[in-house]
Amino acid sequence: MLAGKLFVFLIVSLTSCCFRLPTFPEAKLVQEEVDALEEIARTLGSKYWKFNADTCEIEMVGVTQVPPKNSAQRIDCECNKGNNSDCHVTRMELKRYNLPGVLPTQLVNLPRLQVVDFAYNYLNGTLPREWASMQLTSISVVVNRLSGEIPKELGNITTLTTLSLEANQFSGTIPPDLGKLINLQELMLSSNHLSGNLPVSFAGLVNLTDL
Ligand SMILES: *[C@@H]1O[C@H](CO)[C@@H](O)[C@H](O)[C@H]1NC(C)=O
Ligand SMILES: *[C@@H]1O[C@H](CO)[C@@H](O)[C@H](O)[C@H]1NC(C)=O
Ligand SMILES: *[C@@H]1O[C@H](CO)[C@@H](O)[C@H](O)[C@H]1NC(C)=O
Ligand SMILES: *[C@@H]1O[C@H](CO)[C@@H](O)[C@H](O)[C@H]1NC(C)=O
Repeated sequence: MLAGKLFVFLIVSLTSCCFRLPTFPEAKLVQEEVDALEEIARTLGSKYWKFNADTCEIEMVGVTQVPPKNSAQRIDCECNKGNNSDCHVTRMELKRYNLPGVLPTQLVNLPRLQVVDFAYNYLNGTLPREWASMQLTSISVVVNRLSGEIPKELGNITTLTTLSLEANQFSGTIPPDLGKLINLQELMLSSNHLSGNLPVSFAGLVNLTDL
């Protein structure tokens, strides 16, 4: 009896392994965000963009048809309960793609976005103030060519646990407003052209473990 059950179990496992049965329901990203993603990719300087809205997967991105060896990409979509056609982007990562554009203000058109990581590209220009209206938990733009001042408006994104701006060309002083980011655990600012002292307001960052 038990052996029989095991046998059936094995067959089922093998079947789902080898024929890749569609065991997960489709998760369709809403059209507004499909359009937003395309604009975001263009702003980042991507020449290619092919996205599958049904599976929430990037099929092609970057400045070359074959992506660089160490490149990494990831998009996560989450659906509203019981509605697989009401899905939203929660995470966007495009690392080591040699992207030559700028940071996209259009990120605000992904209202559920929490994690954004555009590390190790050639992005230039400034960090958009517009991002301050979002509920992001993590921003990483390490190793790019970003410049200008760190916008004090970033102090609005109190949901942030990670803010990594390391190895860019940011200048000016560090805005004291960042002391409002009470959930920060990691704050990376080194290897920029920043001047002045650390703001005293940072004393309030009780959960900061990495500076
Ligand atoms: C599912 O989401 C879509 C897109 O937001 C909406 O048009 C539709 O009415 C929703 N269906 C249900 C059953 O909630
Ligand atoms: C960004 O780089 C482009 C060339 O890729 C250049 O034309 C532009 O002036 C640069 N902008 C800044 C702010 O450095
Ligand atoms: C920052 O937050 C305040 C208060 O919630 C809001 O009025 C303001 O518009 C926000 N600023 C930005 C740049 O989002
Ligand atoms: C700091 O972290 C602890 C444990 O993760 C959490 O309970 C607390 O709410 C955090 N404090 C602030 C000010 O975010």
